Amino acid sequence: MTPYYSDGAVTIYHGSCLDALPELEPVDHVITDPPYSEHTHSKQRSGHSLTSGHGSPRKIIDRPRDLGFAAMDAATRGFVCGDIARLAARWVVVFSDDESTHLWRADLTGCGLDYVRTGHWVKLGCTPQFSGDRPAQGAEALTICHRPGRKRWNGGGSHAVWTFPIVKHIGGVGRYHTTQKPEALMSELVTLFTDPGETILDPFMGSGTTLVAAKRLGRKAIGIELEEKYCAIAAERLRQGALDLHSSCEINGRIGNASMDSSQSTFLAEGSER
Ligand SMILES: C[S@@+](CC[C@H](N)C(=O)[O-])C[C@H]1O[C@@H](n2cnc3c(N)ncnc32)[C@H](O)[C@@H]1O
Repeated sequence: MTPYYSDGAVTIYHGSCLDALPELEPVDHVITDPPYSEHTHSKQRSGHSLTSGHGSPRKIIDRPRDLGFAAMDAATRGFVCGDIARLAARWVVVFSDDESTHLWRADLTGCGLDYVRTGHWVKLGCTPQFSGDRPAQGAEALTICHRPGRKRWNGGGSHAVWTFPIVKHIGGVGRYHTTQKPEALMSELVTLFTDPGETILDPFMGSGTTLVAAKRLGRKAIGIELEEKYCAIAAERLRQGALDLHSSCEINGRIGNASMDSSQSTFLAEGSER
């Protein structure tokens, strides 16, 4: 397999992880954010709300939203879980919508891993429920598994709940991927679950946020991505190695993101209405 990008700490492969995973050597951990369930992909909405300037909504424009990649299917999930279980020496942390955590848990444990916990990322600033007829979705799940045996992490007795603002698209800049994870969130997970010098695999790397966090924190990382445009973006982020505007805001303001939401007259909300 020829890497798309390699810098000594991080390697990126362009292509399907279904082809790449069987070729890889064992790693220490897998931290990944795969495509969501069909349910979530089909319910995506985005809304642009104009306000009066005093915070009260004046008008909401609500429309379907295409995430730009296909939903997860059972065959892919089963195949990927088999390879993840074979490759990971310690932690396996997989993001999903709440609706499919049980499927990831069943496939990962079916491949021999221990189920440890279901964590949650509380998504500050995510979309409201445009229809107003049910509660909005406000968090994403993380299925946390481990190879059988002694477990160790760097979080002591803390809870598997992480509260960080979503990555927003402001004035055409600042977000590289439709479902980009906040760099501060990924840095927290890398810090908690892994040690310096270890190797983290993300087989659905998107714009490479896991890899950027890993490299900055002295870990090694391997990423795989189907879309070449995201490989290029990830490589550029890794080359730059600098905090972007969103990351620095998120690190400094883990609870709340007032500096980014106070654009007086508009806000942009994207997410799923389910
Ligand atoms: C939820 S996104 C990951 C976003 C990422 N966490 C970020 O911060 O940018 C999932 C990614 O998996 C990619 N993908 C889907 N199927 C794939 C496959 N079979 N192999 C590799 N990548 C795949 C999609 O193109 C998409 O970019």
